[in-house]
Order: sequence, then C-alpha cells, then structure tokens
Amino acid sequence: MAISFEGQVALITGAGGGLGRAYALELARRGAKVVVNDLGGDPHGRGADAAPARKVCEEIEALGGEAIPNFDSVASYEGGYNMVKAAIDKWGRLDIVICNAGILRDVAFHNMSEDDWDAVFAVHVKGTFTVLRAAWPVFRQQSYGRVVLTSSASGIWGNFGQANYGAAKTAMLGLMNVLKQEGAKYNVMVNTIAPVAGTRLTATVMPPELVERLKPDYVVPAVVYLVSKECTDSGLIIEAGAGRFNRAAIVQGPGINAGLEEVKTAEWVQEHWKEITSLEGAILRWSTQMTLDQWLQQRAAQQAKQ
Ligand SMILES: NC(=O)c1ccc[n+]([C@@H]2O[C@H](COP(=O)([O-])OP(=O)(O)OC[C@H]3O[C@@H](n4cnc5c(N)ncnc54)[C@H](O)[C@@H]3O)[C@@H](O)[C@H]2O)c1
Repeated sequence: MAISFEGQVALITGAGGGLGRAYALELARRGAKVVVNDLGGDPHGRGADAAPARKVCEEIEALGGEAIPNFDSVASYEGGYNMVKAAIDKWGRLDIVICNAGILRDVAFHNMSEDDWDAVFAVHVKGTFTVLRAAWPVFRQQSYGRVVLTSSASGIWGNFGQANYGAAKTAMLGLMNVLKQEGAKYNVMVNTIAPVAGTRLTATVMPPELVERLKPDYVVPAVVYLVSKECTDSGLIIEAGAGRFNRAAIVQGPGINAGLEEVKTAEWVQEHWKEITSLEGAILRWSTQMTLDQWLQQRAAQQAKQ
C-alpha cells in the first residue's frame, strides 16, 4: 500500500535546498502539509536569505500541495519555538520533524578556531535541541511523532578535517538513544539518517559530475519511510545515498567479566587485550537499562553458583 501523509504536518529544517528540499517535495507530494524552514545563509553559516525557503514553498504549491516558509535560525531557542508554533497556528498539529539544517567549517584540528567549533555545534547540536524541545510537548499530547535526526559518515566513522562536524554529528546518536526511550510510550519514533548526496555542502569535496549524479532523491525514500506511520522502529541509524541503503550500529563486544573480588592491573588488561577488544559475538544494546539488567543477571547467576 502506498505510504501517505494525508492529514499530517511536517517541519523540515534547512529545507530551502539540497536534501531538505527533496524531503519537503516528496512529503508534500504524498499529502503532508509542510513548514519549510531555512535561514538561507552560506554553507559556512554566514548570512541569511528568505528566498530559498520561499522558493521551495512555491514549488510545493505548484504541485498542488500546502507549505509555509519559516526563516528562523535553528540555533536560536526562540527560532525553534517559532517554527513549531507556525505549524500549530496554521494546521493545529505537528506529526513529523526532520532536523536537517547544517553547515560546514572544515579545517584540520590544529587550525580549528573556537568560532569554527561553536558555529557548527550551534547549528547541528543546539539547532536540533531547539526544534525538538518545542515539538516534544506536541508529540506527547498527540501521542504521535516521527523524528529524523541527521548524522553523517563523518560522525559515525570519522573524516579528516571535520573534528567539529564529526563530533556534532555523533551527538545526534546520543540524542537519538535517549529520545527513543523517552518517546517510546508516546508513540514517538526517533531515528537517524546518515546521507550521502551531491549538494552545495559536498560540492566542496566531490567532483562536479558526482555532485550531479548523486542526487538527494536517492536518500529520500529512506527518510520518507522513517517518518511514516508505517515505521514503528526507533533508534536506528540508516545510511542512505548513491544507491545504497544500510543500517549502521554501535555494538558491544562480549569482553570479559572479571568480577569484583579483585581489582585488576593494567598488565592484566594488556594480557587480555585481545578478548577485551574482540567484537566476535557482539550484540546491540537498545537501552542502558538492558546493560544494567544483564549485569544484575550475571551477578545473580554467579551468586547462585557459590
Ligand atoms: N550532502 C551529503 O552528502 C551529506 C552527508 C552527511 C550529512 N549531511 C547533512 O545533511 C544535512 C543537509 O545538508 P545538504 O547536503 O542538503 O546541504 P545544504 O547546504 O544544501 O542544506 C543545508 C540547509 O540548511 C540551512 N541552514 C544552515 N544553517 C541553518 C540554520 N541555522 N537555521 C536554519 N537553516 C539553516 C542552509 O541554508 C541549507 O539550505 C546537513 O545536516 C548535512 O550536514 C549531508
């Protein structure tokens, strides 16, 4: 059955171009009403322009859809509130938030300024907090919400020259892992996309033919599914783009449970390094409570043996 967003309202940050625009158009095509947020600055987060968000709203209207622009910066708490309020004032609900706005300030770590660090964290980390913090009470009240956060291969695997960006993008995984738990009982699913696409951000590192070939459209199906009511998974990292779709995950190796009877030495760790660092038989952890539960179970089993 076709996935439909009829009767639903979506807020997409940074939707004036690139990936955000592609998400906005496809959700609108499938019936969603859309708040198109975009500050309209340059790829490094300087300046502002209302034109990109306006233009995407016009494109949506030309398709027969409904959209309103918002020009606030996600980095401002008031801005996050305003964009959520725009959805509620206009349509009385908010079902979907895609935190997509982003900038780059790439520079090798030894040359990274405080401003390069702060600017990237303001948009990616605080900018995700401001919007979700405003949307969260709405989701709880509706007992419904679908959230996609935007990470990056840089945050999951690392990329030279992107210490600020990589750290900010890894923060999305920490935020997701907490919000998937806090949202679970309100039917709020929180997942993360790590996209690859030719956009003005990647135009700085990709050859022009690749920018042209790797259209944001190749990422869109994954994000559209993740924000649909059909998707009831939460806490997943999905890498998508350039024709690929896969899951990435943080796993826990079996390690060694050395018990509490005796505090081990660094030499003991050195001696057992292979087993400690082995990922053979690694498992996924859904929540920190599971980690604690397993530890308590192991302790109970040990005590029963004694
Ligand atoms: N393109 C890729 O291959 C790729 C890879 C990994 C992650 N990403 C992430 O995907 C997201 C979208 O990037 P893109 O490649 O489409 O680049 P893009 O530059 O085309 O889109 C980002 C948009 O965010 C807007 N924006 C920036 N700061 C803002 C702010 N403070 N408030 C509101 N809007 C703001 C920009 O004006 C821009 O339109 C970003 O979070 C980026 O880090 C992209």
